[in-house]
Amino acid sequence: MPLIAPSMLSADFLKLGEEIDMINNSEADWFHLDVMDGLFVPNISYGMPIIAQIKKRATKTCDVHLMIENPERYLEDFKKAGADYLTVHYETGYHIHRTLTSIRALGMKAGLAINPHTPVEMVQDIIHEIDLLLVMSINPGFGGQKFLPLTYNKIRKAKALITAAGASTLIEIDGGVTMDNAASIIEAGADVLVAGNTVFASPDPTDTIKRLKQVGK
Ligand code: DX5
Ligand code: ZN
Repeated sequence: MPLIAPSMLSADFLKLGEEIDMINNSEADWFHLDVMDGLFVPNISYGMPIIAQIKKRATKTCDVHLMIENPERYLEDFKKAGADYLTVHYETGYHIHRTLTSIRALGMKAGLAINPHTPVEMVQDIIHEIDLLLVMSINPGFGGQKFLPLTYNKIRKAKALITAAGASTLIEIDGGVTMDNAASIIEAGADVLVAGNTVFASPDPTDTIKRLKQVGK
């Protein structure tokens, strides 16, 4: 059974409390929280104060996805805001090994995200430092984009690499996950599905989460 991480980027921020309660009361596993700086990605979302507010009400794991340049400057701030998993992008750092080690030293699970153009093999030598490998299935920056089919091959490669290394890294897929492609994504080897638009634009988000959870069972 996959872990389901609804992305709050697609939530209605005018009723944030209700949206959080909906996730709390659903079969979702994690809150996926997207931080964008307008530099690494062409969009700006929200930062620590909003995450800290969400954390106060959330009863589930907070999975924070940093799409920001120089993320190493803010690790402690996101720990304080309530991140349980903190994911940085491979493409943002000269010293990713150090950043991952620092995230764990602060008591968080360490995540590493790779953009569609970044080969999975780039993480091979540091796989044991990665609790969560986030494979982007769109170009990051916006919700509601179309899933890139090249991702399937990357998931298979990531799964093989993790298995061969004897690592316990989880594979998370982020971007364009729908009811139609979720089964194939799971079959390829994904452990965690992020879903923004599919959950929040559906007529019954709680039921959509339930149905995503059943995929590949
Ligand atoms: C985009 C974010 C995603 C986004 C996914 O850069 O990382 O988490 O919210 O949204 P959907 O599921 O709508 O593609
Ligand atoms: Zn994300």
